[in-house]
Amino acid sequence: ENVNTVVFENSTAASKAIALEIAALIKDKQSKNQNCVLGLATGSSPKGLYAELVKLHKEEGLSFKNVIAFNLDEYYPMEPDSINSYVRFMKELLFDQVDILPENYNIPDGTLAKDAISDYCNQYEAKIEALGGIDLQILGIGGNGHIGFNESGSLQNSKTRLVALDHITRVAAAGDFSGLSNTPRTAITLGVKKIMEAKKVILMAWGEGKSNIIKTSVEGTVTSQVPASFLQQHDNATFVLDQASASKL
Ligand code: GLP
Repeated sequence: ENVNTVVFENSTAASKAIALEIAALIKDKQSKNQNCVLGLATGSSPKGLYAELVKLHKEEGLSFKNVIAFNLDEYYPMEPDSINSYVRFMKELLFDQVDILPENYNIPDGTLAKDAISDYCNQYEAKIEALGGIDLQILGIGGNGHIGFNESGSLQNSKTRLVALDHITRVAAAGDFSGLSNTPRTAITLGVKKIMEAKKVILMAWGEGKSNIIKTSVEGTVTSQVPASFLQQHDNATFVLDQASASKL
């Protein structure tokens, strides 16, 4: 078992520490004239991290000009300017607030025709591969152990693809969509394989509500039923936790 866990007093302190680590990586790559390829996540967990990164940009001049970002997932179907799109989330919380070049951020396209999705997903992966892979992948975790939208049953070698969302995932999102009947049934997600190929992975989880799934993911059997458990087999993965989410370890 290789998952490191780091426990902070609270999510604010944890988010600050992760932001500083990302800033150091970006600057190290800058000093070598290299791109920094970041895998980014949505959901409530990374909000504090993005606020810290914006702060480092505005107050300390951290530049994102060498950053190439790939988001994990997007609902399907989803218009980019819809209030619940992950495009909108990322632009509001990070991309529009820093100097990342618009051509350098990538979020799965929720507007494609269904028969175009599989080619698109292959291209999304090819683009990551052409850059030498993801340097650092940021993850949240769903209450059922999903990473990105790789729900229970996603295989370790699963590719980027259209997936059906679990009922429990839709229930968790229903508030944002003003009811379950308006909540998307499908999404496009980066597959587990590309996540596992990232050079480094940081999974964030905050609050008592995540404590059971954190215990299962860190200490339980490695199983496709709990995709986050695959990270036990990654050689550079860290779960960054607050005291509440770590309370059952
Ligand atoms: C959504 C996202 C996941 C995220 C999860 C947890 O399902 N697609 O990438 O990890 O929510 O969300 P939260 O951080 O709000 O608990």
